[in-house]
Amino acid sequence: MNLQTEKLGGHMAMAVSGIDLAGPLDDAAQGDLRRLLNENLVLCIRGQQLAPPAFRDAMARFGTPLRRLQLAATPECAEVSIISSEDRDVLGDGRKLVNGASWHTDDSFMREPCSLTMLYGVLVPSRGGDTQFVNMYAAYEALSPEMKARIDGLQVVHKYQSSRQTNRVSRRPDAEMKAMPEATHPLVRIHPATARKGLYLNANRMEQVVGMARAESDALLDQLVAHAIAPRFQYRHVWRQGDVVIWDNRCTMHKANADYPDGERRLMHRVVVA
Ligand code: SIN
Repeated sequence: MNLQTEKLGGHMAMAVSGIDLAGPLDDAAQGDLRRLLNENLVLCIRGQQLAPPAFRDAMARFGTPLRRLQLAATPECAEVSIISSEDRDVLGDGRKLVNGASWHTDDSFMREPCSLTMLYGVLVPSRGGDTQFVNMYAAYEALSPEMKARIDGLQVVHKYQSSRQTNRVSRRPDAEMKAMPEATHPLVRIHPATARKGLYLNANRMEQVVGMARAESDALLDQLVAHAIAPRFQYRHVWRQGDVVIWDNRCTMHKANADYPDGERRLMHRVVVA
């Protein structure tokens, strides 16, 4: 295997080419991908052609693919979800919905969020529709010693429908909502593979810091989100058709953009792993 790599951002994101995810991959190549992801937080594997079952199987090398009821699934494969310019809030008001349009980390409203997300660019618009990322290790490291001491050990409640929501989320059936009650996560988490500390935030799902008065909690969470999304911590991925972008939700946040020309389609297939 002849892997070529290209650094995409100053402090995160690496592109890899010379690899066909639909074919077999030996342990050394898979180990290289895992290492590059741990070092770069976002990994883009260029030039793929993957039917949904092949996409799921390739991503299963990184962890167990999970089903996610909040997104439509491909007919061929329940673990491959669809993110599309045609998404609608079908159980709600039926209006167009841009999934992931505010800064977030995936599934933080769950008690066991997915570790990695993989997005495969099936149809990419002629311009726009980029995905932005922030490096949450760098955001944490840049905090003042006073702020680090203040937030150390704090826990935050995350909810699917947070009262602080910044982007509309799809309405879900009552039974499904009951099956995903709020979750509590640390504000600073230690990555299990790298042992590095990172901020763990989700602008769209955080409700309140545990044990803190609402006004103080709102001010702190707003301050930390504003800090983390500063341009110096960002990388912006400009999609090419056939890109498979893998990111680590434990040390990044990301955000979709719906700024592509009207009438153009954007279609992504998505897998998340345990
Ligand atoms: C997501 O938030 O998982 C999707 C991001 C995107 O569509 O760019």
